Formats: sequence, structure tokens, C-alpha cells
Amino acid sequence: MMKHHILILGGTSEARALAGRLGSHEDYAVTLSLAGRTANPVAQPVPVRVGGFGGAEGLARYLKAEGISLLIDATHPFAAQISHNAAQAAKQAGVPLIALRRPAWQQAAGDRWTLVGSVAGAVDVLGEKPRRVMVALGRQELAPFEAAPQHSYLIRSVDPVEPPLGVPDAQYILARGPFEEADEKWLLEANRIDVIVSKNSGGAAAYGKIAAARALGLEVVMIARPALPDVPSGGSVDETVMQVDHLLAPLAKRGV
Ligand SMILES: NC(=O)c1ccc[n+]([C@@H]2O[C@H](COP(=O)([O-])OP(=O)(O)OC[C@H]3O[C@@H](n4cnc5c(N)ncnc54)[C@H](OP(=O)(O)O)[C@@H]3O)[C@@H](O)[C@H]2O)c1
Repeated sequence: MMKHHILILGGTSEARALAGRLGSHEDYAVTLSLAGRTANPVAQPVPVRVGGFGGAEGLARYLKAEGISLLIDATHPFAAQISHNAAQAAKQAGVPLIALRRPAWQQAAGDRWTLVGSVAGAVDVLGEKPRRVMVALGRQELAPFEAAPQHSYLIRSVDPVEPPLGVPDAQYILARGPFEEADEKWLLEANRIDVIVSKNSGGAAAYGKIAAARALGLEVVMIARPALPDVPSGGSVDETVMQVDHLLAPLAKRGV
């Protein structure tokens, strides 16, 4: 029997874990796709392809050319473009699509969140008065902070911010998660941070700073998620594995 070829759109820790789980199944051949944004991506448990497809059309062509039987969108919840492309391409190519979407973080007692819809919105609510701001966003998303040079910034990213931000007081930390609450608390205190700017990414790996902010009574400017296409989705790796088995097992039994 031919193996089912599954394409996972990745760039998240969940995509990597999912690839490991599905890749060890004897009926599945799994390819993981990365955008190629990070200079030294972590090792992956299955064959990887890197780089854009050329929009939804390009992805649809790839799905057909490679004989993909299932597309899984396990990209980051803020990577809205590729998720929209995936929905359109799957429809165009007649390939089933499942999304793995980690649930958004919810405010808990003691949290001091200010909700905004964009990075520019986050810069606005920081206000005129100089503050000490920790920014935990992708390095390509930092430009709007140049409109608020009065603040002191602590910027954490996986790859160096090149060129550095055009503000007089910015410090850079290079680090890749997961980040523990105790370490985040230490970092926030050591740098006398009074506000954090974060995306509502969800998941455990980046939650340490949110829990640490709660413990220290710090404000978090929380950027809401973009709208994503309405497709069948699971909230965890386990749930997605079950959905995949459910979808593909009957085909395997029939020898399709
Ligand atoms: N945005 C975030 O906050 C964030 C955080 C952590 C990780 N990531 C990961 O980083 C990658 C890029 O994020 P983004 O926000 O720049 O995405 P995006 O704005 O949604 O996508 C922009 C373009 O990048 C290409 N692309 C994105 N993800 C891809 C993938 N997995 N495989 C192949 N091509 C991909 C596509 O190019 P073509 O149109 O040419 O196909 C897409 O149109 C994603 O894979 C995402 O999971 C993003």
C-alpha cells in the first residue's frame, strides 16, 4: 500500500512535535515546511522543505505535484497569510486540510492586560511618559517602536535585530524558548521592566513572562490574534493526531 503523504506547514514547537508523532506512523510519509525565517532552525524529526510556495496558487501546485493527501496548518496563530493561503490552496487542489491552533491565553485573576489589535496599537498605549518596556515580538515587527523613542526597550528575539531599532535606549537579548516563569521574573526584575508587549500566542513555551508579570503586578500590553480562516482544527498535538488517524485510517483500510 502507498503511504499517505502529509504536508505540515510549521514554524512552531507543536508542528515539530506533530511531525515526530505522524512521522513514526508506518502508513504516513511526512514533510515539514518552514518559511526559512530563522537562521539556525532547530533540528526536525522528518524531511524539511524551506521557503515560500509562491502564494496560494503555488501551494496548490505543490500539493498536486507532490501527491499530498492531507495538509496540516500548524503555523503560528499570528502567521495569518500562510493560513489563508493554506485554506485557499487546499480547496483549489481538493486536498483535506486540518489546522492545529493552540488556544489563546485567557486573563487570570491578578493579570493587568491592556488589549490592543496591532503592534502600532501597542506602541500607542505605552503613552508619552518614558517607561521600561520588554518587547517579545518577532524581529521583523519592531519598526513601529521607533515612533516612541522616549521609552527604554529590552528586546528579545531568536535572531539578531539587524539593523538595530532607531531608538536611543534599546538592549537586545538573543534567546529561544521555552522560558520558565522563575527566569522571566528574574529578567524582569533585573531590568526594572514596568510593562511587557506580547502577542497572545498561546501555548506553554512563551507563557512564563505572562505568569511572571502577574506575580510582579506588571502591565502586559497584549496583542490580539488576527482573524484566521474557519477550517477543522484541533487545539493540541494529541487532538490533531486523532483527527489525522480518523481521516486517513479508512482510506488506508481500503488500500487507497
Ligand atoms: N508570526 C509570528 O508571530 C510567528 C511566531 C513564531 C513562528 N512563526 C512561524 O514563522 C513562519 C513565518 O511567519 P509569518 O508571520 O511571516 O507568516 P505569514 O505572514 O503568514 O506568511 C508570509 C509568507 O511566508 C511564507 N510562509 C509562511 N509560513 C510558511 C511555511 N510554514 N512554509 C512555507 N512558507 C511559509 C508564505 O510565502 P508564499 O506566499 O510564497 O508561500 C507566506 O505567504 C511561519 O511558518 C510561522 O509558523 C511565526
